[in-house]
Amino acid sequence: MARTPIIAGNWKMNKTPAEAVAFVEALAPRAAQFANVDRVVAPPFLALTAVADALADTGLGVAAQDAHWEPSGAFTSQVSAAMLQNYVDYVIIGHSECRAYLNETDENVNRKAKAILANGLKPIIAVGESLAQNEAGETVEFVRSQVSAALDGIAPEDMADVVVAYEPIWAIGTGKSASGAIADDIIKTAVRDTVGDLYGAAVAAGLRIQYGGSVKPGNMAEYMSQPNIDGALVGGASLDVDDFCALIEIASNAKDN
Ligand code: PGA
Repeated sequence: MARTPIIAGNWKMNKTPAEAVAFVEALAPRAAQFANVDRVVAPPFLALTAVADALADTGLGVAAQDAHWEPSGAFTSQVSAAMLQNYVDYVIIGHSECRAYLNETDENVNRKAKAILANGLKPIIAVGESLAQNEAGETVEFVRSQVSAALDGIAPEDMADVVVAYEPIWAIGTGKSASGAIADDIIKTAVRDTVGDLYGAAVAAGLRIQYGGSVKPGNMAEYMSQPNIDGALVGGASLDVDDFCALIEIASNAKDN
């Protein structure tokens, strides 16, 4: 089954609204020709509406970096999925930095995924093991548990809107990355096969799964040539227009057949 590749730039806590708009105004015309790839940027909340306006009618998508599951209420500092509805297409949840620093639990990732889907948006659910878990041989078991927990109670018909990002924590922002073959193997056994066990082969075959962790123009082709990898969730290299365009172009060429 053909899966549209998705390249998402996770800007993390970078770029003011003015910087964000200048970036996407430079990016959009250059990325326009690669329409066989879903091209997404995830600015900080402060820049979301300005970026959404700047990208209207460009074919590029916008993601938020988080969303609360309740529609509104006494949740100081939070932004709800309902509030994001008219501004973004995707919401990144479960990122390892949020799990490590902001007490993001599997249970909350699941609540957020349901709220995001209920509001007509698409969750990008990040999963991945620590270096210690990797070295202890616990990667597949741990990632399987994260995937199962995140999807608990999600209806099969909503799975077409779910994206999973496999990001080994030891590869994020470190310059170390999993080889294409190893990443593909974990993505197959821990993510796609888990979804197959839960939802059946057709849903598993349609699920888009990104690799993330020190993705750069120099290693992107290796990931995109893997049968189970449908794109990338990119931190550092998404902050540079040339690098991010190069990633989109490589993804476009890899799946252009
Ligand atoms: P990186 O970040 O590309 O800088 O390693 C990836 C991520 O955290 O999504």
